[in-house]
Amino acid sequence: MSRGGKVVLVTGATSGIGKATAELLAAKGYRVFGTSRDPAGKSSTGFELLQLDVTSDESVAACVKTVTERTGGRIDVLHNNAGTGIIGAAEEVSPDEAMRLFQINFFGVMRVTNAVLPLMRARKAGTVINMSSSGGVAALPFAALYCATKFALEGYTEALRHELRPFNVAAVVVAPGPVSTPAGDTAMRAGKHLPEYADRRRKADEMSVRGIRGGMDPKRVAETILKVVRDDWPSPRYPVGLQSRATNLAHGLLPPGTFEAAVRWGVGLG
Ligand SMILES: NC(=O)c1ccc[n+]([C@@H]2O[C@H](COP(=O)([O-])OP(=O)(O)OC[C@H]3O[C@@H](n4cnc5c(N)ncnc54)[C@H](OP(=O)(O)O)[C@@H]3O)[C@@H](O)[C@H]2O)c1
Repeated sequence: MSRGGKVVLVTGATSGIGKATAELLAAKGYRVFGTSRDPAGKSSTGFELLQLDVTSDESVAACVKTVTERTGGRIDVLHNNAGTGIIGAAEEVSPDEAMRLFQINFFGVMRVTNAVLPLMRARKAGTVINMSSSGGVAALPFAALYCATKFALEGYTEALRHELRPFNVAAVVVAPGPVSTPAGDTAMRAGKHLPEYADRRRKADEMSVRGIRGGMDPKRVAETILKVVRDDWPSPRYPVGLQSRATNLAHGLLPPGTFEAAVRWGVGLG
C-alpha cells in the first residue's frame, strides 16, 4: 500500500461528494473505508463499504471497531461527509424535524469524531475534515435549519482545531457552493405548510433543486479533500467553487448590512 498506508474513513460514501472522495483517495493509494446506512447491494470502487448510521451511538462504535480491527488501530483521516437538508420556512420546521436534521448534520459529526479522536491522539497524528457549505457563513431563506447545522459545525470545528493542535491533529472545514448531487431532490421538506410562505417557499425550493442539480462536479470537492489530506498542516477552511469563495471573501470584507444585501441579491430577492 502506498501513501504510508494512510487510512481514511469517509461517512456517506454511496453518493455525491462522499462517493467521489472515497473513489479518488482509493485511486491515489490510500486505504479507504466508506459508509452507508444500508450497504447491501451498493457498489464501491476501490474501497471497503461499511454499515454506519451517524445518528446511532451503537452503529458508530461498531463501524469504528471494524475499521480499527482491520487496520491495527489506525484511522489517519476522518471525512465527516454524511449530511442532508430540510427545505421550508423557519416557522414551518418543527423542533422534531430540526432535531432529526441536527442528529445527522451536527451530532452525527460529533459522534463519529469522538469515536475516532482517541486513535488520532494516541498516534499524535490525524486530520478531521468536516463538510460545511457556503451556507455555513451565509444563511439562505427557506434553508434556515440546514444553515443552522452548518453554522454550528463551523463553530464546533474552529474550537476543535484549537483543542487538537497540541496532539498534531488538524480539524478542517471544507465548504463548497452547489455541487451536482441528488441532495436537493432528497432533502427533507417541512411537514407544516403555512399559506403565507407558499409562493416564496416553492420558488426557493425550485431554485435550490435547480442550483444543486446544476452545481459543480463532486470530483472538484474530492480534489480539495485530496489536497487537505496531502497537506502537512492544512488550513482551517477551504471554500470550494466560485460562489463559496466569493461568499467567504464578501463575509470577511463587507459590513453586515452590505453582506445581507449581497446575499439577498444573490438569491434573487433584490
Ligand atoms: N450537494 C451540495 O450542493 C452540497 C453543498 C455544500 C455542502 N454539501 C454537504 O456535503 C455533504 C454530502 O452531500 P451530497 O450532496 O454529496 O449528498 P448526497 O449525494 O445526498 O449523499 C449523502 C450521503 O450521506 C449518507 N447519509 C445520509 N444520512 C445518513 C446517516 N444518518 N448516517 C450515515 N450516512 C448518511 C448517504 O448514504 P446512505 O443513504 O447510503 O446511508 C449518502 O452517501 C453533506 O454534508 C452536505 O450538506 C453538499
